[in-house]
Order: sequence, then structure tokens, then C-alpha cells
Amino acid sequence: MNQIICADALTTLKQVKSNSVDIVLTSPPYNFDMNYDEHNDKDESHRYVDTLLEIFDECIRTLKDGGRLIINMQPNYKEYFPSHHYLTTALIERGLIWRGEIVWLKNNLKKLTAWGSWMSPSCPYLSYPFEFIEVFSKTTLKHSGEKDNIDITKDEFIKYVNGHWTIAPETKMKEFSHPAMFPEELVKRCLRLFSYKDDLVLDPFNGVGTTTLVAHNLGRRYIGIDISEAYCNTAKQRIISSNPLEKFF
Ligand SMILES: C[S@@+](CC[C@H](N)C(=O)[O-])C[C@H]1O[C@@H](n2cnc3c(N)ncnc32)[C@H](O)[C@@H]1O
Repeated sequence: MNQIICADALTTLKQVKSNSVDIVLTSPPYNFDMNYDEHNDKDESHRYVDTLLEIFDECIRTLKDGGRLIINMQPNYKEYFPSHHYLTTALIERGLIWRGEIVWLKNNLKKLTAWGSWMSPSCPYLSYPFEFIEVFSKTTLKHSGEKDNIDITKDEFIKYVNGHWTIAPETKMKEFSHPAMFPEELVKRCLRLFSYKDDLVLDPFNGVGTTTLVAHNLGRRYIGIDISEAYCNTAKQRIISSNPLEKFF
């Protein structure tokens, strides 16, 4: 049954059956000292990666063979620590197949204010108007499904396999009181390209529920977990608004 669960991801994932999930799609906390409702988003960089890996170990256990783990990541540029490289390497060492990387170009350079040493080579800051979407498979690259459950069109397929997606950042963050949502379009592309209708989608850092909303709208089953009760309530409300018959227990 579809679920949005307000709890710690690690504790909750331990209760999810092994080999039951088709696709994990998530955007973990960035460790940028952001103002989340319940989570303290500021940890020593290596400990941050280790904490995420504990959660991803559980995600891997829950995935079916051929299941996909898709993680939206950004380098922790503040401390010059490439967390996306550390995480990717560690996941490959755990036996996952790294099947590719999508560069999500956000085109939001205009907001840039931190230059480091302005107009001087002494210490300029690099800026990142893009994020990464790392895509892994468990055990095998192939994920089988019913032909009738494929919902990607020819044009979408041609567009999405180009690993360079230009998608504007989410504009509803104020409305939903969440500082770091990813856009519905990004989730739609990931789900249509890497999963079938009726697949089970898991997001262990579901926030205000962009993954679960799009999964719902695209006819996937879903489990979304977030530590914040306020975010989970918003996630449920977003689904109820799109389908008043949906019930949560
Ligand atoms: C980058 S946000 C995800 C936003 C989401 N993609 C969306 O569009 O709403 C990361 C989320 O992880 C949640 N979080 C942090 N630590 C957690 C934990 N241990 N267990 C569950 N959720 C956690 C935070 O509350 C935050 O909402």
C-alpha cells in the first residue's frame, strides 16, 4: 500500500522487506547548513557521507535485482569536499553498477553573490548552476516489466537519454515551506525513463513529497519517508489535492 511515513529513514527502512522495491529516487540533505524543519543539516563531511551510506545500505537491501538507485547530489563546495564523488565510489565498492550520470542544469547563475576574491586570481569561488543525478543498478542493468506498463513516449525517450537536462529549480519552495525541493519535472523524467507503471518507488528523504506526488500521478506505487511531521503532512496534502479519494492511515 502507498505510504508516507514520518520517521527516521534508517529505522524505518529496516522494516521494509528485502528485494521489494523497484526504484529508489531521492535527494538527500545537502549538508549545507540549511534550515530544515527537524534535521540539523551541518555535519563533519566524512561523517555526513557515512550517515548517508548507512541509509543507502538499507535502500540497496530493499531493492530488487535490477532495481535502480537514483540520487540527486551536489558537491559540498563550501568545505571543498566532493561528497558526490565519495558517495559514488562507496556505492560502487558496495557492488552497485554505476550506470550513468545526468547533469541537471538549473540555469540560475543570475543569483550568484559569492565571488571569493572578486576580479583577482588569489582565491575565486567556483559556482555550480548544476547538480548531478547519479544512477545505479543493483546486480544487473536490466529491469524487466510488462510492455503495457511502459509510459515513456518516443520524443521523451530521445530527450531523456541525453544526460544533460535543463530544468528550472522548483518555484514552490516558499508555498510549501521547504528550502530544498527538487522539481516535479526531474522526478517525472527519472520515473518514466527508469521505471514502469505500478513499480514501487521509495524516497527515504521525501521532504514535502515531490517524489511521492509524481509517482502517484504516474501510476507508480510509493513509500516516502521524512523525519519532519510538517513536511509529511504537506506531502500527504499534495497527493490528496491531486486525488481527493486517496487515503492515508
Ligand atoms: C533535500 S530534502 C528532500 C526534498 C524533496 N526532494 C522534496 O522535493 O520535497 C532532504 C530531506 O531529508 C529529510 N531528512 C533528513 N534527515 C532525515 C532522516 N534521518 N530520516 C528521514 N528524513 C530525513 C529532511 O527533513 C529533508 O526534508
